[in-house]
Amino acid sequence: MSEDMRELKIEAARAALGQVTDGMRLGIGTGSTAEEFVRLLAERVENGFSVIGVPTSERTARLCLELGVPLTTLDDTPALDLTIDGADEIGPGLSLVKGGGGALLREKIVAAASARMIVIADKSKMVETLGQFPLPIEVNAFGLRATVLAIEGVARELGLKGPLAIREKAGEAFVTDGGHLIVDASFGRIPDPRALANALNAIPGVVEHGLFLDLADTAYIAGDGGVRAVGAV
Ligand code: A5P
Repeated sequence: MSEDMRELKIEAARAALGQVTDGMRLGIGTGSTAEEFVRLLAERVENGFSVIGVPTSERTARLCLELGVPLTTLDDTPALDLTIDGADEIGPGLSLVKGGGGALLREKIVAAASARMIVIADKSKMVETLGQFPLPIEVNAFGLRATVLAIEGVARELGLKGPLAIREKAGEAFVTDGGHLIVDASFGRIPDPRALANALNAIPGVVEHGLFLDLADTAYIAGDGGVRAVGAV
């Protein structure tokens, strides 16, 4: 990642930090942008700021522990004030594609448990139509072939085409924090994300998908001209 790109992520994270107040219960996202947020948050915590966070991945949990950000779980703290997370694509109405880092299931559970969700990103994530970024679909390993065929079937019915790939890491199947696999669906364009989301939700082997609809309230998008807020501020 270039230094300029990292700077944009830091700027977006800093804007989101401005929305965090003392005593908040936070959902803490996953990915390179969310990690910049954790670093900035940790500085505030070191200076006496009191927050408690639910991490959306083991990776984020490790970073928080390393930097001294206090953590809790959704079992102990089931209602959160604010979740701050990155995204792979941000489309119309703050519809999102997430899960490039494989954390989409926990990210969605945490976002849904939050009163508010802020997305932080550099400007490259803004798109007119979702789908250029392959859509991550988290699936149970049991019946994988049947589930992939079912995903192909609903995609065909919705006029979507493109390869489905089982995600790999270092030559092995990538396994999520929840012990599932990820199918990356390269549809190119998803003109009706809601129809696809509903159809995927109806496939038993699909655990969750990376379409986040009606979850994000605000996005802070960093570009050369500064940080722009989209949605409710
Ligand atoms: C993790 O599973 C994803 O949903 C991330 O939030 C997303 O991939 C954004 O990551 P970056 O901030 O690294 O681009």
